[in-house]
Amino acid sequence: PSGFLADALMRPLHDLRISVTDRCNFRCVYCMPKEVFDKDYNFLPHSSLLSFEEIARLAKLFVAHGVEKIRLTGGEPLLRKHLERLIGMLHELRTPDGRELDLTLTTNGTLLAQKAQALKNAGLKRVTVSLDALDDANFKRMNDVDVPVSQILHGLDVAHKVGLGPIKINMVVKKGVNDHEILAMARHFKDSPFTLRFIEYMDVGSSNGWRMDEVVPSSEVIRRIHAELPLEAIDANYTGETAQRWRYRDGGGEIGVISSVTQAFCQDCSRARLSTEGKIYTCLFAGEGHDLRGLLRGERSDAEISSTIAAIWGRRSDRYSELRSEQKGSSPTSMPQVRKVEMSYIGG
Ligand code: GTP
Ligand code: 5AD
Ligand code: SF4
Ligand code: SF4
Repeated sequence: PSGFLADALMRPLHDLRISVTDRCNFRCVYCMPKEVFDKDYNFLPHSSLLSFEEIARLAKLFVAHGVEKIRLTGGEPLLRKHLERLIGMLHELRTPDGRELDLTLTTNGTLLAQKAQALKNAGLKRVTVSLDALDDANFKRMNDVDVPVSQILHGLDVAHKVGLGPIKINMVVKKGVNDHEILAMARHFKDSPFTLRFIEYMDVGSSNGWRMDEVVPSSEVIRRIHAELPLEAIDANYTGETAQRWRYRDGGGEIGVISSVTQAFCQDCSRARLSTEGKIYTCLFAGEGHDLRGLLRGERSDAEISSTIAAIWGRRSDRYSELRSEQKGSSPTSMPQVRKVEMSYIGG
């Protein structure tokens, strides 16, 4: 069964983000703060994880329903053993009209230098790398581990050399922690093959202690860069793109801003998220997922699972970020779902 789905707000299903592990070798303060994700934290046991065969089977059903982009996330996806094998399986999938998928991955970059060539050979198209600072001390204040920035920059270069592009760089901006590096980051990646994107610190999960006054609005990011390096707005690459794009007037390339706090983009959100243990989340801020692993392991047919997916998407009415901004200035705990799922579990 195939055909294109629309949710309750008429949004299509275009994008599937698959979390392949809930573990990470970083402890970013906005994602997996050390106090919560310590040595006693209960990460998922191996038996709970979807196998590559299970993931590929679901991905195929999602592609039949209109998914054209698959992004592997985590946690840190490169920590999942033999990930190239999964990439090889996903690379075989074709859209109903016979096209290859946009197959990509979001990584913190620590293992990129050693894995880039194998990922490329397996069929990965491109990567997006998180990098929150250029200065080692600021980098550590964001991710709480001792990894030098040079290791990530080297990973970026190797990924570029093996052809895993166009490569994007995600910088989460937290006021008073790394926002003084906005301009240095812009300068560093201007005139480079990499597209830098600034992300507003979000109230995702329930362990990062989010406060509105730690968010630097994207308008402020643009203002600060524009004052030194003149910018002009450019059109989105596709409907529902998370980032707003800007280019340097002198031809030095482009940057993006992802403003999920100050300018919610739920209206065109076409993203479904598959958690490491096989639950579908129809919003990054959803409290509950819909379990598909039980169906996979309960000998259900593809047709049954496919119609379950269609029913889940058909009922979808999530628009958390828009609702949050409608309740201007309110704290996240006053929002409907108080216990939100962690980003490291559901995948960015
Ligand atoms: P491209 O395919 O390159 O356009 O990537 P993308 O922007 O879809 O994916 P990426 O993983 O780079 O997303 C960047 C960041 O945007 C994520 O890490 C999140 O912080 C944020 N983001 C992505 N999707 C959503 C979403 O659906 N809702 C919200 N609120 N934030 C999102
Ligand atoms: N706010 C904004 N972005 C976040 N990410 C993780 N947690 C948050 C948050 N609270 C980003 C990471 C990475 C992607 C997977 O999600 O920096 O780029
Ligand atoms: Fe790990 Fe990415 Fe979360 Fe940082 S943001 S802790 S790198 S999953
Ligand atoms: Fe999509 Fe939910 Fe993010 Fe809105 S808040 S853009 S609905 S994932």
